[in-house]
Amino acid sequence: MPFSQRSTLTQYLIEERRRYPSASGDFNALVLDVALACKAIARAVAFGELGGAMGNHDAEAGGSINVQGETQKKLDVISNQYFTRLTEWGGHLAGMASEEMEAPYQIPAQQPRGKYLLVFDPLDGSSNIDVNVSVGSIFSILRAPQDVIDSGRDVVGSDFFQPGTQQAAAGYALYGPTTMLVLSVGNGVVGFTLDPNLGEFMLTHPDIQVAPDSAEFAINASNSRFWEAPVKRYVDECLAGKPGPRGKDFNMRWIASMVAEAHRILMRGGVFLYPRDTKDPSKPGRLRLLYEANPIGFLMEQAGGRASTGRQPVLGVAPDGLHQRIGLVFGSRNEVERIERYHAEPAMKELDNPLFAKRSLFRD
Ligand code: AHG
Ligand code: MN
Ligand code: MN
Repeated sequence: MPFSQRSTLTQYLIEERRRYPSASGDFNALVLDVALACKAIARAVAFGELGGAMGNHDAEAGGSINVQGETQKKLDVISNQYFTRLTEWGGHLAGMASEEMEAPYQIPAQQPRGKYLLVFDPLDGSSNIDVNVSVGSIFSILRAPQDVIDSGRDVVGSDFFQPGTQQAAAGYALYGPTTMLVLSVGNGVVGFTLDPNLGEFMLTHPDIQVAPDSAEFAINASNSRFWEAPVKRYVDECLAGKPGPRGKDFNMRWIASMVAEAHRILMRGGVFLYPRDTKDPSKPGRLRLLYEANPIGFLMEQAGGRASTGRQPVLGVAPDGLHQRIGLVFGSRNEVERIERYHAEPAMKELDNPLFAKRSLFRD
């Protein structure tokens, strides 16, 4: 298709906005600023070793550890700066929160404040940076509480504690062989491919739908000894293949960039699990609710898939921490519902009790 027949991201947003004749344009301007940050990050990532930004942040001083207790890469820090610098000036935001910043980010005093909150993981999968495997950025747009808008006061953590159902928009950029932006403004899911000649995101995937069934799962199996019984059951049944209870063979993938796994699932179905496990009782899951689970969950649900903690829809969880972690299962609807059923079945709950372990079909 010649590019003139394709919409740009700007065109798509303007056409969407026509559904809301009273909209001010702030929202579209904010999404375009986020898209610019993603384009800047795509360039920084693409330069690799030549860009002088590989490796750990501030390695000479022993590296820097972020609020998650994880080593920050130089590109984590650079990506975070692109997000804050390219979105703080426009007057659309009341504040931001990021994986790389412990406290909410305040819009500088000299800039006007607006009505939205931006929450992001500036570089997801950043452990893959040094091995040239796909990484991405994840973002979520919330409305600021009314008193924040009215008073223009500084934001605090609890202003962001809104369930994922409240997201006005969510999306990710994927820095793979091509750079893509996948977005939902609450009206389905659309995908744009960056035209490197024009520097424009072009609409290439106008109606992304997650296949309801699939035979492909993604989980970090090195954690299997820490899994809870329902997860162990699900994976065991997949591994049993055609002669097993599922009656079909399954394929497995693990990229360790959730954003890339989410993209694969949006394109060809599948299920992703990073469930709650018993590895570290202080961490109820690996992934973060506000800037990983919620935006990806929103996209999945908008594309006809499903996102869950295993026990409840992830978008219904009331957050109580800016960086809170949560168990996450998402993808093809029938597979996610099966995993939820396994969590709900009383017989499987018994298996959590070691007294019942000997009777289990699924424990060795
Ligand atoms: P981040 O790079 O933002 O810290 O996130 C990495 C996340 C996610 O993308 C991925 O699915 C998961 O961590 C990988 O975890 P393991 O290393 O435990 O496989
Ligand atoms: Mn991440
Ligand atoms: Mn990250």
